[in-house]
Amino acid sequence: MNAEQPIGFFDSGIGGLTVANAVLKALPNERIIYFGDSLHFPYGEKSAKEIQSYSITIANYLLQQNCKCIVIACNTASAAAYKAVKEYIGDKAIVVDVIDPTVYYVKKYLSHIENIGVIATRSTIKSGAYAIGLKEENNKLNVASMATPLLAPMIEEGFVDDNVSKAVIEKYLSNEQLQQVEALVLACTHYPFIKTEIEEFYNNNISVIDTPTVIAEFLKDTLSKKDLLSKSEEPFSAHQFFVSELNQTIEQTAERFFDHQFQLKENNIFK
Ligand code: DGL
Repeated sequence: MNAEQPIGFFDSGIGGLTVANAVLKALPNERIIYFGDSLHFPYGEKSAKEIQSYSITIANYLLQQNCKCIVIACNTASAAAYKAVKEYIGDKAIVVDVIDPTVYYVKKYLSHIENIGVIATRSTIKSGAYAIGLKEENNKLNVASMATPLLAPMIEEGFVDDNVSKAVIEKYLSNEQLQQVEALVLACTHYPFIKTEIEEFYNNNISVIDTPTVIAEFLKDTLSKKDLLSKSEEPFSAHQFFVSELNQTIEQTAERFFDHQFQLKENNIFK
């Protein structure tokens, strides 16, 4: 591995762009390759076996593209396939998931709180990955985990910052289960698209933790310790963004979110 190799990111769709965006802000010299598996979206409703199989195919593709590091920029894939991807990749690249660093972040910065909420896809909640990880670090913490399966498809379809997103967010967050929370983990990489709306729901009174900033800091630390931080300055056009199935809605939503002008290209590696 050397510092000038790219970093690969993958997600079931455009959610992982929130992670890639945060990483590029923290590490502007890095070159990235992004892969969104829009063909199989949403992962949140798939079995662990299916998610593992898609994840390994994508990880293999990113390895072929010479990535020094593969970021599983999807909580659902992190919960179901981190172990499988790590085993598959071995020591050929660094594999980073989004759950362990987030659990560690909560332990480090929110040790004073007693009640935390976790919202995520059905598959992530069912895996128990957050509840188990958070309790392992602090067994006094009450973890209220709630599946919010409409949110990722809603975002992928472009319903962000409008009446639809407002109504769905209100309906979910008004649930009895979440009433005591002092912090809420947005345990899906699509949710930063609606972070402001979620904060507004709480009148900015609780900590809303989203994975992108946590992962960006974690990655900076990990690459720096291994002396793998890139030193060269690359133009934004050096980055590559792929989806397994391109459609206009994805393009439009992705553009709205990402801080730079970029082009999503279709690349069906599953054929
Ligand atoms: N972005 C994915 C995550 O972080 C979820 C979307 C999906 O269901 O595929 O969990």
